[in-house]
Amino acid sequence: MPTVTMIGGGQLARMTHQAAIALGQRLRVLAEKPDDPAAQVSPEVVLGSHTDLGALRKAAVGSHALTFDHEHVPTEHLEALVAEGVNVQPPPQALVYAQDKLAMRVKLSELGLPVPAFTPVGSVDDAVRFGDEHGWRIVLKAVRGGYDGRGVWMPESAEEAAAIATDQLAYGVQLLAETKVELKRELSAMVARSPFGQAATWPVVETVQRKGQCAVVIAPAPGLPEDTAAAAETMALNLARELGVVGVMAVELFETVEGELLVNELAMRPHNSGHWGMDGARTGQFEQHLRAVLDYPLGDTAPLAPVTVMANILGAPQAPEMSMDERLHHLFARMPEAKVHLYGKGERQDRKIGHVNILGDDVAEVREKAERAAHWMSHAIWTDGWDPHE
Ligand SMILES: Nc1ncnc2c1ncn2[C@@H]1O[C@H](COP(=O)(O)OP(=O)(O)OP(=O)(O)O)[C@@H](O)[C@H]1O
Ligand SMILES: [Mg+2]
Repeated sequence: MPTVTMIGGGQLARMTHQAAIALGQRLRVLAEKPDDPAAQVSPEVVLGSHTDLGALRKAAVGSHALTFDHEHVPTEHLEALVAEGVNVQPPPQALVYAQDKLAMRVKLSELGLPVPAFTPVGSVDDAVRFGDEHGWRIVLKAVRGGYDGRGVWMPESAEEAAAIATDQLAYGVQLLAETKVELKRELSAMVARSPFGQAATWPVVETVQRKGQCAVVIAPAPGLPEDTAAAAETMALNLARELGVVGVMAVELFETVEGELLVNELAMRPHNSGHWGMDGARTGQFEQHLRAVLDYPLGDTAPLAPVTVMANILGAPQAPEMSMDERLHHLFARMPEAKVHLYGKGERQDRKIGHVNILGDDVAEVREKAERAAHWMSHAIWTDGWDPHE
């Protein structure tokens, strides 16, 4: 049975490992530290950095496919591995569109896909000019390396933009500017594609961000017109084919107040917007990713309930006194239907330390439950004042 190597030892690798166990595979991880979420559970851990070609080579030896928990591996290292015969999936020439937001914006425009107006920013003047042109409804972004809203700024004046651009350019951070979209909400269209060319989508979901990072996912996106949903899924399928993606890909979308869709960014790995499918779909993203990178036929993605809501457990400003273990006891006592996934991470403010999935019929009810459960897990406070002893 195959061994798959995953670069990065975060929660995505940890959950991929769960799927690998069921399929009789081994997931080897390249982790920075022995207590990284996946390093705690994988039987084959290579310790090292994803920027060290030697470490990447060591992690790749004898594995059937090499894939990713994050997109930060330098392209030249991946090309070196491919040249040495490593089966890198997604291939570096596809992955670059998830690594480099400017390359992605340029490529998607060439393909005629809807994206916000954008420009590269090589100087403070570039940023100020773009801001003036767009009435200071703009977003500055690091071209590479951002995540969870780090590397995204929304300056409202020339002074603010100049300060950000001066700082970032001085650190050597490459920037782009784009228009700030008037959002109705954010969506995600997830697709998986195999080297054979088989592809499968999950229903388009709504993603709710707080402080620039994903907090809640509702599957499927409530009230999304059928033709809009179909258009988003078709876009994801076409993009996966055009770019030669192998594995799962999330297409992060903006739904504008006018009801149009624009592409925000691409992730070519399991993604927070797909966590609902671990419990809410016949085949979840982690299993599907393994099936895709190993060129197995893909699994049925049908939802198992009319609604699934995923709520991230985000670290509280101060970790509660009550232990995580005791919180879990209380949660299970109150909500036997809650499916909890914990990542083995320390509690820090706003850090993603786990998530809760709830399946059901009524969006409002299911969402309230999932958010209440997640808040309980991070804060040890029931938002409705519930007292188990009463
Ligand atoms: N052009 C834009 N107009 C309006 N809001 C935006 C725009 N670009 C980004 N945002 C907001 O900022 C969030 C983070 O932006 P983006 O997805 O580019 O950054 P990231 O840090 O790479 O994301 P992730 O959290 O997915 O790792 C978006 O989900 C959205 O809420
Ligand atoms: Mg994003």
